[in-house]
Amino acid sequence: MSETVTLPRPDDWHLHLRDGAMLTAVAPESARHFGRAIIMPNLVPPVVTGADAAAYRDRIMAALPAGSRFTPLMTLYLTEETDPADVVAAHESGLVTAVKLYPAGATTNSASGVRDFTRVHGVLEAMAEAGVPLCVHGEVTDPEIDIFDREAVFIERVLDPIRHATPGLRVVMEHITTQDGVAYVREGGPDIAGTITAHHLVINRNHLLVGGIRPHYYCLPVAKREAHRLALRAAATGDCDRFFLGTDSAPHPDGAKESACGCAGCFTAPNALSIVAQVFEQEGALDRLEAFVSRNGPAFYGLPVNEDTLTLARQDAPVAYPDRIDAGGEDVTVFDPGFPLHWQVT
Ligand code: NCD
Ligand code: ZN
Repeated sequence: MSETVTLPRPDDWHLHLRDGAMLTAVAPESARHFGRAIIMPNLVPPVVTGADAAAYRDRIMAALPAGSRFTPLMTLYLTEETDPADVVAAHESGLVTAVKLYPAGATTNSASGVRDFTRVHGVLEAMAEAGVPLCVHGEVTDPEIDIFDREAVFIERVLDPIRHATPGLRVVMEHITTQDGVAYVREGGPDIAGTITAHHLVINRNHLLVGGIRPHYYCLPVAKREAHRLALRAAATGDCDRFFLGTDSAPHPDGAKESACGCAGCFTAPNALSIVAQVFEQEGALDRLEAFVSRNGPAFYGLPVNEDTLTLARQDAPVAYPDRIDAGGEDVTVFDPGFPLHWQVT
């Protein structure tokens, strides 16, 4: 008999679903396994107002397979013009779960992000008061800061000052990639959490750059050196309940990735749970998987754990995932963890 693990249905606390043909292609890939997902607002143009979020949520619902119970948890893209009253109303009505902070220019489609953090102080105060969590892309964009240091410098220059200036603000430091991020979340008390992707648990910067440049391993924040990857694995499998899965599955057409200026993002929605289960098995921590993928996220967001379940079964033969999927005539490569996966979602 094969080994199995049954969990409350996992959620994805950081997901890019895009729009149009890409949305139609990728939404079923997340809905197949996950109960809910925090939906990133970095469309072009971004999802800025409650009205934008309502319209985007309708388009997501229309892209789901018939009978799907997947629930998109919408976010608003914070700009220097964001109206605090609109944010609070959208949250109170249940339409919007969180607000996303992108430093301007930090990553794909972040041109409308925040340049001057003092200009969003009023919104952040209103959010702290109303209990609206802030999801943060934690990288500075100062050209003088080395790309591998941008997360650590962000903590010191931006995140810590924001948190001191806005007591009570609940913050999710998303897709953390460093020992610094792990330590900041772990020591930061009950108002801060960190999401970790499947891919950052399995690749370091050598995977990206040794023996040829691998565009499908390029994402932001960029994968760091091995010691950081190990810290992420220890955090994900450890005893702090403020770390949870946010895949940051970020599909791009292959032509945009395999390019002289390839864009950032790994498409992991199809196989993220198989990858994470295997990591937990390798770490001898399968008993902690449920906390990381099913329980810690809802606990931080103040939401119930999903009532239905998902079972992963370990099989001897590798699980077959497609190398790529079709999105309206364009290929999107599925993240290759670089080793065979043995945990199948049944
Ligand atoms: C994301 C995208 O493509 O939208 N890319 C990525 O590398 N993660 C943006 C982001 O979350 O940084
Ligand atoms: Zn992202």
